[in-house]
Amino acid sequence: MDKDLKIPNHVGIIMDGNGRWAQERGMVRTMGHKNAIKTLKALCLHMADVGVKYASLYAFSTENFKREKSEVDYLMDLFITSFKKEFKFLIEKNVRVVFSGRREPLPEKVLEAMDEIQEQTKNNKDLVLNICLNYGSHAEMVDTTKKICEMYKEGKIALDDINEEFIQKNLYQDLPPLDYVIRTSGELRLSNFMMYQASYAEFYFPKVYFPDFTPEEFDKAILEFNHRNRRFGGVKK
Ligand code: FPP
Repeated sequence: MDKDLKIPNHVGIIMDGNGRWAQERGMVRTMGHKNAIKTLKALCLHMADVGVKYASLYAFSTENFKREKSEVDYLMDLFITSFKKEFKFLIEKNVRVVFSGRREPLPEKVLEAMDEIQEQTKNNKDLVLNICLNYGSHAEMVDTTKKICEMYKEGKIALDDINEEFIQKNLYQDLPPLDYVIRTSGELRLSNFMMYQASYAEFYFPKVYFPDFTPEEFDKAILEFNHRNRRFGGVKK
């Protein structure tokens, strides 16, 4: 990739289209999720290589619990094997894994695998990989509001301490704002993904399904990012 290209500091990826990818190949939907892991591994390495500092991945929304039990169970098992085996290479690759989302009602074994990889990568510095699991932006706002109310009730903060920066710092993770949100599969929605953090993000909607979102596809996204004129509410320069 051209060294002069601007690299977004924080990239969000809505990994959509796994089910359709599999169905179009005559496979069961879950095979799409399985193949997504291969894609994800290559993508994480690539993002670290090109200098992305923060990447947020939408792995499972609070609403995804409405899916067939067999698909939910498959995904839960996939999370366990990913964090216990497939993603171990991140420890050596200096990638720090953190999670955003509600722990309830995730199964105990998933929580254990999440805690383990978080602990094993906690001193890593190259790329922060924020995995949104059982995540919803509305739920995050509710949970953050409750947390701030508790602090106020306990006398730890005054009303005037609550401002935009303070709210951001008290979300599930204290991360910089999203610069670029990519949603694969051609769907044009945010689907309850990091709404507070995405307020001034640029959006990119490639047609490819997530299992086909290779590092080359990511580079196309970066090229497109470099054509955007970000004004943050100011005037065009
Ligand atoms: C959306 O595609 C994808 C999901 C709901 C699951 C995403 C999970 C992964 C990519 C794998 C695990 C991730 C980690 C971090 C270990 P869809 O099923 O909605 O596809 P469709 O729109 O074609 O039905």
